[in-house]
Amino acid sequence: MTSVYEETYARSLGDPAGFWAAAAEDLYWDRRWDRVFDDSRPPYYRWFTGGMLNTCYNALDLHVDRGRGKQRALVYDSPVTDTIRVFTYAELRDAVARLAGALRRQGIAQGDRVIIYMPMVPEAVMAMLACARIGAVHSVVFGGFAPNELAKRIDDARPRLILSASCGIEPGRVVAYKPLLDGAIELSRHKPERCVILQRSQAVAPLAKGRDLDWNDFTAGAEAVECVSVAATDPLYILYTSGTTGIPKGVVRDNGGHAVALKWSMTGVYGMGAGETYWAASDIGWVVGHSYIVYAPLLKGCTTILYEGKPVGTPDPGAFWRVIAEHGVNALFTAPTAFRAIKKEDPAGAHMAKHDLTAFRTLFLAGERCDPDTLLWARERLRVPVIDHWWQTETGWAIAANCVGLGMLPVKPGSPTKPTPGYDVRVLDEANREVAPGTIGSIAIRLPMPPGCLPTLWNNDAGYETSYLAKHPGFYLTGDAGYRDEDGYFYIMSRVDDIINVAGHRLSTGAMEEVLAAHPDVAECAVVGVADEIKGEVPVGFVVTKAGVTRGEAEIVRELVEKVRATIGPVAAFKTAAVVKRLPKTRSGKILRGTMKKIAEGTEYTLPATIDDPAILTEITESLKTLGYPRRSP
Ligand code: COA
Ligand code: AMP
Repeated sequence: MTSVYEETYARSLGDPAGFWAAAAEDLYWDRRWDRVFDDSRPPYYRWFTGGMLNTCYNALDLHVDRGRGKQRALVYDSPVTDTIRVFTYAELRDAVARLAGALRRQGIAQGDRVIIYMPMVPEAVMAMLACARIGAVHSVVFGGFAPNELAKRIDDARPRLILSASCGIEPGRVVAYKPLLDGAIELSRHKPERCVILQRSQAVAPLAKGRDLDWNDFTAGAEAVECVSVAATDPLYILYTSGTTGIPKGVVRDNGGHAVALKWSMTGVYGMGAGETYWAASDIGWVVGHSYIVYAPLLKGCTTILYEGKPVGTPDPGAFWRVIAEHGVNALFTAPTAFRAIKKEDPAGAHMAKHDLTAFRTLFLAGERCDPDTLLWARERLRVPVIDHWWQTETGWAIAANCVGLGMLPVKPGSPTKPTPGYDVRVLDEANREVAPGTIGSIAIRLPMPPGCLPTLWNNDAGYETSYLAKHPGFYLTGDAGYRDEDGYFYIMSRVDDIINVAGHRLSTGAMEEVLAAHPDVAECAVVGVADEIKGEVPVGFVVTKAGVTRGEAEIVRELVEKVRATIGPVAAFKTAAVVKRLPKTRSGKILRGTMKKIAEGTEYTLPATIDDPAILTEITESLKTLGYPRRSP
């Protein structure tokens, strides 16, 4: 007998237009689309061309108009400030409408870009929705990035206005955002006309006369404005993500396809109904935050939780269970790293017993490979299904999942299960042929991708084609390597490029190498991602100093660590580097990063046949030993 999943999946690929048109009926359209699927300009496939709608309307006003005005829309839970604030759908709609009015009063119009550089406060969510309300394109930048990274995004997005706050709060320290913002604007070629600063009591920021506005003055007396109708294919947001170099990629999300896919996913993938409570413990600076803190739960009419805290230390490893119990959370979505952190501090799960978790139904994990140990630990203690699912910034929603709303399939720990409806996923070899089950290859998605996935990169069609479409003609390159088993389950094993995943955060080792290489004492360098018990992977640097450099190695390493922190940000978690005499290379000069990674992890490696001088590997092994690597037994 075919399962609901199999039937739905087959329908989604057999008749994509029919499938997504039916899903689109769940939204309010100001004007219906002319074509569900528009393939008139390949490879730039578009969904719902001719359709007009407003994402903010569908996320807020629609629910108020249909009687959910008094339901909780947003619960802000901030253990770091000891605050809980609840906004009903009516309250959130009104606040967003006024903020949208304030933006418009400043002259912000449809298509203008607005950068949001804010901590996890309700005003950040309101800012995203306010932009959507007037058709402005938001670009949220994660607070853990340094000014240089923010500057790159300012130059690419060219925002007219930046919405920011005086500070973010990390356990044990207040991170002043304003100096970072000022530093970024100093570095950027493009200068925004205005910055609006939300003053938080933990650090009040001085304002730059003529450019900066206090958030309260900005919003005071602003008129509540209605939603504007935008084309389904108009951009809703740009979200920058790490590529293989130091230049981030501006992933574009449209309005129509995004709203359709995300609303469908709430039921199909997550098994959530309107009125239920959904919590994505991530940050609005990442795609998980965009899709599953803000847009999807609100489009579905759920209550969403905005959590300003950590899984551990705010105040203890019971923080997640406290939030789940206190707000009646039905489903939690986070990265495996959060569970590894909890497991380390509370291996027996003693903190769970202190809270009433009866409403809690399902745990979803994504953002990095989920090791079976973590999945089983969580499942045994929580006694709920633990669902690994796989996706990326570019797709905006799951490429593979165990679709809870379509009847769960048996869980195979280590696998995010099977492709989600709409995604035709294949494992290919170098010659673009599909490989046999069990064989590792490059994971690609046959074009077209379903609604919600990136239509292109911001102002960079050429980059979109070379980064994603050139490698396997007719397919989108996910950048992940893995295999499919005999039952059709996928296993995502590693990246095929220089991207690493640190605590669920996607980072480019290439960008870190650029920073190290710019140090005056460094002749050449390499950065590799090395397995880490909590964060999944951490970057480790290898540097060769220039001839004649006599300064102490420890001093140089300290400077390099500080430089990466100051240039990319603390989120890079770059804490270790080894000064080595030479880097291992092939005879053609390619640095053998994979071999260095294996040595650092203590896994077996075969001596590359093309290595120019095998003795270097012994030196690398010795240097790593002094840094305490390998940390795990082979
Ligand atoms: N603003 C400023 N600094 C920030 C920041 C922000 N918004 N977010 C993180 N940082 C800093 C941290 O303070 C830390 O600085 P440090 O080196 O001085 O300690 C550094 O960036 C690394 O942060 P993080 O990766 O969060 O590590 P951590 O050791 O503070 O916490 C975990 C580790 C596992 C608890 C944490 O990463 C976590 O909760 N991850 C789970 C979920 C998640 O957010 N996933 C993302 C996508 S789903
Ligand atoms: P990001 O764009 O930041 O969401 O990162 C996407 C990348 O994270 C993917 O390309 C994968 O390399 C990795 N990733 C995300 N989810 C999973 C998962 N469930 N299993 C394995 N890797 C994952």
